[in-house]
Amino acid sequence: MRNPEDFGPPEKKQKLNPIQFNFNSQNGPKKNSFEELRDARRALPIFSAKHKIVSEIKKFPSAIVIGETGSGKTTQIPQYLLEAGVHQNAIIAITQPRRVAAISVSQRVALEKNTTIGSLVGYCVRFEDVTSAGTKLKFMTDGMLLRESILDPTLTRYSIIILDEAHERTINTDVLFGVVKAAQRRRLKTGQKLLKIIVMSATMDVDHFSEYFNKAPVLYLEGRQYPIQVMHTKEPQSDYLFASLITLFQIHKEAPAGDDILIFLTGQEEIESAVKTIKDLARDLKDVPQLVVLPLYAALPSQTQIKVFAKTPPGHRKVVVATNIAETSITIHGIKYVIDSGMVKAKVYNPHSGLDLLKVVTASKAQVLQRTGRAGREAPGVCYRLFTESEFQNMSTNTVPEIQRCNLASVVLQLMALGISDVLTFDFMDKPAPESINAALEELVILGALERQVNSDILKLTPLGKQMAAFPLDPRFSKVILLAKDYDCLEEILSIIAMLSAESVLVSVSNKRKECLESHQKFMSSEGDHIMLLNIYRAYKSVNGNKSWCFDNFINSTNMHNAQEIRKQLREICERNNMTFTSCGRDTTTIRKCLAAGFFMNAAELSKEGDFLTMTTRTKVSIHPSSALFQCKPACVVFTELVKTTKCYMRTLSVVDPDWLYEAAPSYFKRKKTSAIS
Ligand code: CDP
Ligand code: MG
Repeated sequence: MRNPEDFGPPEKKQKLNPIQFNFNSQNGPKKNSFEELRDARRALPIFSAKHKIVSEIKKFPSAIVIGETGSGKTTQIPQYLLEAGVHQNAIIAITQPRRVAAISVSQRVALEKNTTIGSLVGYCVRFEDVTSAGTKLKFMTDGMLLRESILDPTLTRYSIIILDEAHERTINTDVLFGVVKAAQRRRLKTGQKLLKIIVMSATMDVDHFSEYFNKAPVLYLEGRQYPIQVMHTKEPQSDYLFASLITLFQIHKEAPAGDDILIFLTGQEEIESAVKTIKDLARDLKDVPQLVVLPLYAALPSQTQIKVFAKTPPGHRKVVVATNIAETSITIHGIKYVIDSGMVKAKVYNPHSGLDLLKVVTASKAQVLQRTGRAGREAPGVCYRLFTESEFQNMSTNTVPEIQRCNLASVVLQLMALGISDVLTFDFMDKPAPESINAALEELVILGALERQVNSDILKLTPLGKQMAAFPLDPRFSKVILLAKDYDCLEEILSIIAMLSAESVLVSVSNKRKECLESHQKFMSSEGDHIMLLNIYRAYKSVNGNKSWCFDNFINSTNMHNAQEIRKQLREICERNNMTFTSCGRDTTTIRKCLAAGFFMNAAELSKEGDFLTMTTRTKVSIHPSSALFQCKPACVVFTELVKTTKCYMRTLSVVDPDWLYEAAPSYFKRKKTSAIS
């Protein structure tokens, strides 16, 4: 066990704000009575600033609102504007980078407004639109608003656009900044009604934002923040996972029941295994409160995510093991201790290979400070950082915006569909590297979405590209769908892509590992994971989505249902594109041919030494243990996801014939080969 002395002295003390607030949104219908919710709204730190906020927003075309997490920005400001009529009877859009936040916040606001979700207050996320003609407060993911702007570049239906969680700087948020700013300018020029822009954030580089939004005024909200004791380790930790467990049990031995703990780790598998270890270790402990251990990450089904909001039963202690999702966008009650690994899983892009890679990297100072803040929302708290003070000082100040570290093909395609042909000169707040834009343009040319105009370097959208932009998917997936009709397997490809777009359907029960594996074995295919997903989908359909079948086969029925819904929507887009629905029946080879034709950039082959190397950049990759092909050594595969943990893993892959790849993109492989030689 670690000694308390291993941690250095507190780093900073923060101002004590004596307002007490004990409201919990999950206390059942009685506690959620309208009066009680109204009182809770009035007790929020933002309430006293209501009139000032409304009058400032009325005065200026754009405004920036800064306030600590939990101060009431997301739930209250839209309501204030609505109540004051600032929206002029049009819709107020509130964008969120994460779908969980869009759903949970809109539900909360509907509750506060005493209405059912989908009427006055609604939400719209990919594959789910819960709004109606009467919706005035529309919570949506930034990706959804971006898609709407393709059809309506001046965003005519909206009078106010609130860009929330701006500090997250996801690709979509960054592109939206430019699109919304252009819409505001265009409406001004053409004499249409003003479009108000409000940018909200917990922390951010205020001057940079204000400058970009035409010197918009900045409104600071006072947050509720109790003092937090910050501890650093004395020595750097080689294993943050191990360190987090030791720290957790050290706190657990001493702290009274009800003092809940939030641990920041990096991803799904790591979190699930930590949750299991914690439960196992806690079982043998005596004279300590009982633990309620809960995972929290984006891919978790919403019903499971919601559990973290529940009040901890008396005599228990809640431990939430989360990704950076718990940094700002979600409010968890009762947290007194934060354990911060100082790590985060982020997308990293290699413009040479054109591949995005999920990789565990050091968090930024801004993220670490946000995490610390989560310990002091309701009472004084403690934050244990599993890194030294000097490691903290060496962290970068802000997170690098996603747009500067991801594959831009999807965004560039959307911008082209928006009519912005010169992407290199688009008004980005922080410009992506020209190499990344050029790599994306090149990828889209290879995919056939863009083409060079005769005798010029100007790129324009092809009819295929236009069709591709209609799908809310990575261009490679859209391409596969469009190819599928030529390969006579559109129905099958839709099922596979819907399954890939939904959350994982395979359930793994820790004390029934063997039974799980045996059940899943039935669906496995020597052709790979995509065909396995298809087998599961087909089996599910053949029993008409029977729930007990799902249960018996360790298949998550909610996620299966979602996959079915997603499929329906993708099929509707195909219908609108006048595509013919074809099926290959049992001949699954054509499916893999089709996948190869769309994902030829994600191919790897087995080398003589027995390693897999990507076909173009010769990067070493391995088959993920969760893959149906883990024990196999196929000569050539295409993969639809790459993750980096201890190694670079291909997850979800299919066996293909290298000839299919060459046939699909002869010029691509020829060019890559030449450049590899030179
Ligand atoms: O956006 P910001 O972080 O400033 O705060 P918010 O999301 O508007 O949340 C304000 C308060 O509403 C939180 O402190 C919670 O007490 C409550 N809330 C809740 O109970 N359940 C939710 N789903 C969202 C907010
Ligand atoms: Mg918020």
